Amino acid sequence: MIIAIDGPAASGKSTTAKLVGQELNFLYIDTGAMYRAMTLKAKKLNIDYEDTEKVISIIQTTDIDQIIDSSTGDTKTFLDGVDVSLEIRTPEISKGVTAVCEIKEVRENLVNIQRIMGKRKDVILDGRDIGTVVFPDADLKFFMVADVDVRAQRRFKELSEKGISSSLEDIKADIVRRDERDSSRSNSPLKPAEDAILIDTSELTISEQVEFIVNKIKNEKMRNGKNEN
Ligand code: DC
Repeated sequence: MIIAIDGPAASGKSTTAKLVGQELNFLYIDTGAMYRAMTLKAKKLNIDYEDTEKVISIIQTTDIDQIIDSSTGDTKTFLDGVDVSLEIRTPEISKGVTAVCEIKEVRENLVNIQRIMGKRKDVILDGRDIGTVVFPDADLKFFMVADVDVRAQRRFKELSEKGISSSLEDIKADIVRRDERDSSRSNSPLKPAEDAILIDTSELTISEQVEFIVNKIKNEKMRNGKNEN
């Protein structure tokens, strides 16, 4: 099965997708982390994130992969063989990724990798364009939204726990800026697929979000099973 979870920044996609993946033994693919890894590569090579030609020139020599850490269940992101899961979460990368992810060639390359990963086993992917572009035929599509202040609070807590310092105001401003730019770009803009199930997580707990999605997947599995018989 392929499950797509899209939605704006910090709407709870990755936390939910990870837990759903663990509960149902699906591979969780964090596509945002891949765009962040590409951005980190540009940073390491001192390439300006807005310099499209230079960013395109490093695509072929950049290796991005994700694996599940069997001890924690976390999805780890590797850039050229090195675990960069924490490094890609800094405010600088969050800022720079908006320009890098707009580049058509970057998207084509990462979408290819995501489609190959999707063939490995049952997968749950989170991002902005999973249900619309990467897997338009996904078995189930969800679009998660939440009030911007709730999202800022959650991201602030998450970053603090990871030891990454930033102010609540800066985080909120970054979320608003990224949502605007992600929604208005011409390449694969952030928008719900027509057949996506909308979930507003503003007043839901994480376990409620997980339970809602897990139940939908179980129902879909049963429906498919019945159709096959
Ligand atoms: O999910 P995230 O905040 O880690 O994603 C980082 C950025 O990557 C986000 O601002 C938009 C971009 N992105 C994208 O364009 N397409 C995706 N499928 C996933 C993320």
